[in-house]
Amino acid sequence: MSAQFPVARPRRLRRTPAMRRLVAETRLSPADLVLPVFVKEGISEAQPVASMPGVFQHTRDSLRKAAHEAAEAGVGGLILFGIPAEKDGAGSAADDPDGIVQQALRDLRSDLGDAIVVMTDLCLDEYTDHGHCGILTASGEIDNDATLERYASIALAQAEAGAAVVGPSGMMDGQVGAIREALDGAGHSDIAIMGYSVKYASAYYGPFREAAECAPRFGDRATHQQDPANADESLREVFLDLDEGADMVMVKPAGAYLDIVRRVRDAVDVPVVAYQVSGEYAMIEAAAEKGWIDRERTIMESLVSIRRAGADIVLTYWATEVARRLA
Ligand code: PBG
Repeated sequence: MSAQFPVARPRRLRRTPAMRRLVAETRLSPADLVLPVFVKEGISEAQPVASMPGVFQHTRDSLRKAAHEAAEAGVGGLILFGIPAEKDGAGSAADDPDGIVQQALRDLRSDLGDAIVVMTDLCLDEYTDHGHCGILTASGEIDNDATLERYASIALAQAEAGAAVVGPSGMMDGQVGAIREALDGAGHSDIAIMGYSVKYASAYYGPFREAAECAPRFGDRATHQQDPANADESLREVFLDLDEGADMVMVKPAGAYLDIVRRVRDAVDVPVVAYQVSGEYAMIEAAAEKGWIDRERTIMESLVSIRRAGADIVLTYWATEVARRLA
């Protein structure tokens, strides 16, 4: 063996923290993170979500505080989910100008202006008494086109209350086009649409359904959300949303779908968003609580991996905590 062997020594660039920082290919920054938040009507104190330690159903006031903290930490955006006091078959509270999300939007815009991008989840499942993402036919199926009319109306209510970005998450065919047309027709052509373009029918949404009180009363979401077995149809969904006017496209969940994040990143030239969902959060928190993994390292690794796979923007319930750590 020659004295010089091996010549190539990849370890040279891993020797010190300073060197590793210098050569890192992927960086996390607070500006790339979006914090999902829940606001509930008719409660006087924030309620902890049992399956998501550290996450709360907020009152309007506690939400203002959480939003302020996120903005101060440099978090790029917030996405709002509302839980109304009254639910019905049409999800009427969703587009009520005095519905909980619309009230919260006005609060946040008056407190924070454009200091942080205020987004909304646009769906019906938190608002319907049956817990489905749309209007049901007499036989209990989701009526796609009747639901689009509801989504268009919700988009207007959210835009008028101050949403800068609306995020349709119901996986109805044509939802982005219907919302774009409604927004443009009402003078809201400057409101952006973040398509939940690739959304799988995932067991990882379990804890969210407690947080948002939106578990379906019967059946599931498999007739509209994607089958985890499929990858190619994700690109079809993405291109349909872009044709209909989506400004950004999302892949959801993130951690178990990093191959899809990469395929979408390689196929489009708009920002790619990935949603690290409630189950991803709950698994890490639960294992850390048992002392089985290092909580902070696992959180950071999970987020760097989502960015490395190709996501420009990451929705994560840890956004404020991580932004503070990065500062
Ligand atoms: C639908 C919606 C869901 C999530 C975000 N938007 C639930 C669902 O489709 O059943 C899940 C997010 C998470 O699990 O963190 N409004």
